[in-house]
Amino acid sequence: MPSPENPSAATEPAPTPAFGRTWRHDLAAPPPDLYGRPHADRFMRFLTRFGDAYAPAMGAPLLRRSPRRPPSRGRAPLVLAVTGHREIAEEVAELRLADPAGAALPAWQPGAHLRLTLPSGRERHYSLCGDPADRHEYRIAVRRIDGGGGGSLEVHRELHPGVRLTVRRPRNGFVFCAEPAVLLLAGGIGITPLLPMAREAARRGLDWHLVHAGRSAASMPYTAELLALDPARITLLAEGVPTGDQLLAKAAPGAAVYCCGPTPMLAAVQQALDASPAAALHFERFGAAPVRDGAPFTVRLADSGEELPVPADRSALDVLREARPGTPYSCHQGFCGTCQVRVVAGTPEHRDRRLTAGERAAGALLPCVSRAAAGETLVLEV
Ligand code: FES
Repeated sequence: MPSPENPSAATEPAPTPAFGRTWRHDLAAPPPDLYGRPHADRFMRFLTRFGDAYAPAMGAPLLRRSPRRPPSRGRAPLVLAVTGHREIAEEVAELRLADPAGAALPAWQPGAHLRLTLPSGRERHYSLCGDPADRHEYRIAVRRIDGGGGGSLEVHRELHPGVRLTVRRPRNGFVFCAEPAVLLLAGGIGITPLLPMAREAARRGLDWHLVHAGRSAASMPYTAELLALDPARITLLAEGVPTGDQLLAKAAPGAAVYCCGPTPMLAAVQQALDASPAAALHFERFGAAPVRDGAPFTVRLADSGEELPVPADRSALDVLREARPGTPYSCHQGFCGTCQVRVVAGTPEHRDRRLTAGERAAGALLPCVSRAAAGETLVLEV
């Protein structure tokens, strides 16, 4: 995830996954927030929304939320050393990270991911796939994507034992709620967040099953670890692209489905969900979601005047990266902020989940998801 590198995508996927839930019945209390707290504080949420909505209109920042406030000591990034690097499947490297002085690492739960700042400055997100009980080591696995954005190649080529990295503390947007019956669906390297979930399901004695689909047996990591949990609860699909019905065939009545994989796999599962006995779907998607209700518009680069047409089904970031390959990005999904640019002229249609009303009013735009109305021209400083 995180965001894992995706074996099935034609281009390097967004390292950070998009998270979501589709509920068919009320199954459980609200899951914890990204930091594992039981739930967000409602009053503070109300105050923040009030501030975002009304303070700019009143010309005074009544309730200013500073997106750039320095991290508290409890949230400060970590500096970790690579302690292990090995190839565990075709084009998949597993990395082990630890504190250089051997200190205990922040706790995490199945589904959590890390944000790594690579030596080049690229930021990439990867799901934790080790054992949460091991507080002295983090494990991630990365699929190499030739011809992608370069993040996975850098991980494979540069991150060898001894290299130090800045790493954000684990966050979790794909929380495992440990329902009594669960079906875990992994596409390729999407196994990484689901492996700790399978271990947790086994530990708790849940009614669980895991389906791992990949393009070939040699390309699928962690098969031995999965089979060691309980071979009767593992289905490996190593040929072809399974249908939604095939993927959901093992769903027990009322089961919660956890799915991590490429967009077509998730779409197939979403389509087949209603006809299955499963009750809910939690998912983590690689890469950008398809553009919905997009219209063609134009981006004009403020420094050169170059005009770039953005088709209805592509993001402005994709188009910008063709013209300026160095344009930074990370999540492709409007929540990391890496791709932020400034709107100098034109009316944007914000579709992100990160920018405050104040930041938008000041011209900030996340071109990986945000767009403009049909025929509009956005003049951007990139
Ligand atoms: S790439 Fe993360 S917000 Fe655009």
